[in-house]
Amino acid sequence: MRTLIREMIAKEGESVVLEGWVRNRRDHGKLIFIDLKDRSGLVQVVFLPKPQEVHEAASELRAEWVVRLTGKVNKRPDNMVNADQEFGAYEILAEGLEILNKAEELPIPIDTDGREISEEARMKYRPLDLRRERMEKNLKMRAKVVNFFRNYLSELDFIEVETPALGKATPEGSRDYLVPSRIYPGKCYALPQSPQQYKQLLMVAGLERYFQIARCFRDEDTRGDRQPEFTQLDMEMSFAKSGEVMDIIEDMLIKLVETHYPNKRIQQKPFPRITYKESMEKYGNDRPDIREDKNDPDLLAFCWVIDFPFFEKDEETGGWTFTHNPFSAPQPEHMDSLMNKESIAEILADQYDIVLNGYEIGGGSIRNHRPEALHKVLEIMGYSDEKIQADYGHMLDAFKLGTPPHGGIAPGIDRIVMILQNEPNIREVIAFPKTGDGRDLMVDAPSEFTEKQLKELQIKVDKKK
Ligand code: AMO
Repeated sequence: MRTLIREMIAKEGESVVLEGWVRNRRDHGKLIFIDLKDRSGLVQVVFLPKPQEVHEAASELRAEWVVRLTGKVNKRPDNMVNADQEFGAYEILAEGLEILNKAEELPIPIDTDGREISEEARMKYRPLDLRRERMEKNLKMRAKVVNFFRNYLSELDFIEVETPALGKATPEGSRDYLVPSRIYPGKCYALPQSPQQYKQLLMVAGLERYFQIARCFRDEDTRGDRQPEFTQLDMEMSFAKSGEVMDIIEDMLIKLVETHYPNKRIQQKPFPRITYKESMEKYGNDRPDIREDKNDPDLLAFCWVIDFPFFEKDEETGGWTFTHNPFSAPQPEHMDSLMNKESIAEILADQYDIVLNGYEIGGGSIRNHRPEALHKVLEIMGYSDEKIQADYGHMLDAFKLGTPPHGGIAPGIDRIVMILQNEPNIREVIAFPKTGDGRDLMVDAPSEFTEKQLKELQIKVDKKK
């Protein structure tokens, strides 16, 4: 039976079977050393001249070959302990060796942090790239963060619900990814920019508290903190005021740091609240980096940004558009202005963004749960009644069926993990991200349609451009 490297500690002096990857081999003629890696850690294996066939097989080994080996667990003498390695006090004296799979010469090194390798090469050979220690740690910590969020919200009665990936295109701020329908030629689904509408409909359904680790899709240019598909911790709650949503998220983030990042220091608790106006005046943007010391990689400066204007002038059309989310409610004292369509530029949204070290890591709001109020927002944006009915009719109709006041937020998981892991961009904390120009170099996506697919979808591609 297989023993994991971390389990060998309890088996000192015994023969065990280990399986894993050869990280490297040092051949000293009579003595051959390899580092063996499995999911639990790394250990040094020593091949003595005897048994001879085992020694001969070991002399063939190369980096990243996959092996099964039998060997005796030995404690290393005190002066030989490798203090840099978790299991550096042990070594395995090899007794048998079976090669399960060989590896060709590696196209990229994996024993470095990888920052010196071109993005093209790292993305093309991503499974190999992910074997490097830094990437393994990032993925493991990401899983811990997600689990923490899931447990935290579940404890508070939030119910995890999956919402569709195939939905309807609605103007939510970015460009949609469209999926052509085979059954209804000329029609398409849209992938969700966020589960915003579905989560509000779950409030209509009476769920009261919802969350989801939700994949979101936005056809926008990729940047260091932006991917075409990314993951939100999406949540929504009924009968809540903005302060309650903010308190839950704040407490969750503080406990996350205390539990999984005890070496990091949160600059200020409770998180300071900065108005949009103050942020623009003082920092020139709405995601202020308020760190006292920007050289400290372990400093976390969270803050809330509040009091956003609801509407702004659309530069292209000259009309009004929403600054964040068409579903937001105005702050209670601005509801009359909204309903009377007065002083539109002064209406403040009941919106809150959470910012960490200069990155917007989440945004949310209390919503308009009364259909008249949502309708007013859409009117102010200059939408015709037909457009309102076509794009938002399902929301307005649902809100006529007994809808509780509600609000929520969606922290961006990729950005949070990026900052906590001290990474410079979210591609380092996503297993299979897109490149800066939106491609997956490993599988070569996007790729051409086949003639058969086009025919089924009744689509003609105009390649003239
Ligand atoms: P918003 O659009 O502000 O709000 O998104 C919420 C959070 O998601 C993250 N994020 C991204 N992360 C990586 N790549 C992207 N392209 C990207 N776009 C956004 C950010 C951002 O703060 N439905 C609302 C939430 C709500 O009101 O409840 C929404 O999606 O961290």
